[in-house]
Amino acid sequence: MSAIARSDAAYQRCIFPQCAATFAVDETHIACPKCGGLLEVAYDWDRLPLPTALRDFEEHWCRRADPHSFSGVWRFHALLPFAPREMCVTIGEGQTLLQRSDPVAEYVGLRPGSLFLQYEGLNPSGSFKDNGMAAAFTHARLVGATRAACASTGNTSASLALYCSVTRLMRAIIFIGSGKIAYGKLAQALDYGALTVQIAGDFDDAMKRVQEVSRSLGIYLVNSVNPFRLEGQKTIMLRVLEALRWEVPDWIVVPGGNLGNSSAFGKAFRELRDLGLIKKVPRLAVINAVGANTLYRLYECEGLRWNGGRVDGEKLSQFYGEMDREGRRASTIASAIEINRPVNLWKCLQALEVCQGVVREVTDQEILDAKAQVGAGGLGCEPASAASVAGAKRLVSEGVITKDELVVCILTGHQLKDPTATVAYHTTDQQMFNEVLGKRGVRRATFANRAVTVANDLNEIIKAIHLYG
Ligand code: F0G
Repeated sequence: MSAIARSDAAYQRCIFPQCAATFAVDETHIACPKCGGLLEVAYDWDRLPLPTALRDFEEHWCRRADPHSFSGVWRFHALLPFAPREMCVTIGEGQTLLQRSDPVAEYVGLRPGSLFLQYEGLNPSGSFKDNGMAAAFTHARLVGATRAACASTGNTSASLALYCSVTRLMRAIIFIGSGKIAYGKLAQALDYGALTVQIAGDFDDAMKRVQEVSRSLGIYLVNSVNPFRLEGQKTIMLRVLEALRWEVPDWIVVPGGNLGNSSAFGKAFRELRDLGLIKKVPRLAVINAVGANTLYRLYECEGLRWNGGRVDGEKLSQFYGEMDREGRRASTIASAIEINRPVNLWKCLQALEVCQGVVREVTDQEILDAKAQVGAGGLGCEPASAASVAGAKRLVSEGVITKDELVVCILTGHQLKDPTATVAYHTTDQQMFNEVLGKRGVRRATFANRAVTVANDLNEIIKAIHLYG
């Protein structure tokens, strides 16, 4: 399992079957040079050493002093062997938890024991992005890159900045939309020393610009159009299976923004199925915010499908054309998924095909209420992450998820990423509530836990504890 991959057993391939162009692993492309499509990392599995069962990965647990066995990404190296194991970059990512939460199960409408939260907030930079960044940095090292860039709603940039500051492999250049990034995340990028470029625009504008800049200056791009990022993110699913002692759940529920995670999860299950390492594939539910619902509209309303790669590009162009004519911009309190032009759309549609997927949209009210419930009965999360729980609740109420099913919701980011949204929800300060949440259509803080104001007096304090405690 720990053998080094022969370089030509891994390669890059255009996802569109009618193109299917291939490129060596040590090339760097933002898109398929032949047709402009998305690239993925592919493997000649016959030529690679594979585990006979997923259980074989457990041998790494007793080798925690070896950084690659300790890493929650690289202990699964055999399933993402695009670089020799000793070249793989790690800063200790992937020490994350699958937490059973009966209080959240009750909120969602499921039986005790049937809802689990995969808490990716425990990663070194506080979000799932570190899974992908470890893999992207490994590729960047392979190709000798010295500068790396991303556009970000905050977490990719925090992760890039952290990997740069710890590994010293590259200089970080991050592009963010103005006023569009939660303070916890901005604080990280600044503290870790990244060059932070604030663009007068939103994430979609920043994403377009960073691709242009990367092309013209030859800077290594770490957004999830980078296929190596998604290889790292496959391991989130491997850790879910591992925590369930290799049982495949019925549902994976994940927030959808740029659609990297959902794409990576679909690829992970496609490969595990094709390799005969799992017998069933879980169903995938991708959850958009109402104010950033491109995938929901295209998949559920317009019927856009992957269709084995025979895609209806015209439908997508029309959709974006109309979006531009109407001047529609993404807008949601879940700033991490405030994205209207998800770069991984086609890959996500493929994942939805593999996993018999569904897509739902949830309001900011539903997101914040679900977030408060996760805080009260789980490990806490940022608003975007709670979209998964709000989405699961919807799907249970629709009867799409049934009460007997085993459901895993992905909590993508740490609670402290966006303290403003959390404090505004729980506050007694009506003005703050209105400024942060009211303007987003949030009307009430259903599960608010208000701070109690008391005089600086022992008796008054004791009285308050008796009254509210
Ligand atoms: N949840 C969190 C906390 C995120 O930061 C993101 C994406 C998503 C969900 C959506 O994941 O893009 O794979 O569908 N954040 C990116 C960023 C866009 O720049 O940090 P996705």
